[in-house]
Amino acid sequence: MGCLDDKVALVTGAASGLGEATTQRFVDEGAVVIGVDLEEPSAWKGAGFHAFDVRDEPAVSAAVDAIVDEHGRLDAVVHCAGVAGGGPVHLLPLEEWERVIAVNLTGTFLVAKHALRPMVAQRSGSIVTIASIEGVQGTEGGSSYNASKGGVVLLTKNLAIDYARLGIRANCICPGFIDTPMSRAILDLPGMAQFKDRYVDEHKLGRFGRAEEIAAAALFLASEESSFVTRHALVVDGGFTGGTRAGLADALGLSFARASDL
Ligand SMILES: NC(=O)c1ccc[n+]([C@@H]2O[C@H](COP(=O)([O-])OP(=O)(O)OC[C@H]3O[C@@H](n4cnc5c(N)ncnc54)[C@H](O)[C@@H]3O)[C@@H](O)[C@H]2O)c1
Repeated sequence: MGCLDDKVALVTGAASGLGEATTQRFVDEGAVVIGVDLEEPSAWKGAGFHAFDVRDEPAVSAAVDAIVDEHGRLDAVVHCAGVAGGGPVHLLPLEEWERVIAVNLTGTFLVAKHALRPMVAQRSGSIVTIASIEGVQGTEGGSSYNASKGGVVLLTKNLAIDYARLGIRANCICPGFIDTPMSRAILDLPGMAQFKDRYVDEHKLGRFGRAEEIAAAALFLASEESSFVTRHALVVDGGFTGGTRAGLADALGLSFARASDL
């Protein structure tokens, strides 16, 4: 028996990274899963698939209609489709700002807007969005990405407030650095290699997260295991947002290279 037996779930960004891991985990937990991405994925098995751009409102609407026609309902959405971006504001082209906001924030709005139609009718549902720790506290050079993710946090909180009395919950996940094609592409950019060890070190657990660890958080928020949780921004960051690691813990003897040192 799985956490999502008899549930119907839509997962965007399903071809890669967090969406791919979430799709597979939801299938394994018994859900009927419909993945969405720009191109057909190859990694997971057992889910349906629609290829479209989450900025395309008629396509989002048609996909939700097709899911309801075939399965009769829509219980959960995990909206993982997103793009990286940013740069100093005074150098950022308007087109680049608009691209990031359109995919990350407007895409979240459109997916939620159309997923809500069946959810309102059935008086139940769980919407899970993916923001970022960068949308909570800001980070160097983030600009458009961080603005989009901050918008996702507040849009999700507002969905939770507005639709709670209709039995619909809305929560977002704010991941730290997770090892996916997106984060690898950023760290592979010229000049970025020098920052990788420092980013790893800022995660107090001493490593980047795994996509499966975000899928586990999405499973909790999408399922009845979180039936009294709504309007929450769940930080899943290995301690990244716990302040700068200046090294005092190491000086106090709190860092151990091996378990046998204990
Ligand atoms: N990886 C991280 O460290 C990290 C940290 C915090 C937040 N996030 C967020 O998590 C989400 C997933 O990131 P990921 O690391 O899995 O990235 P990823 O690049 O591995 O996967 C993102 C997927 O979204 C799809 N996509 C992009 N634009 C789309 C569009 N317009 N329509 C439909 N699909 C589209 C891509 O094709 C890709 O398959 C993103 O919103 C990202 O901002 C990632």
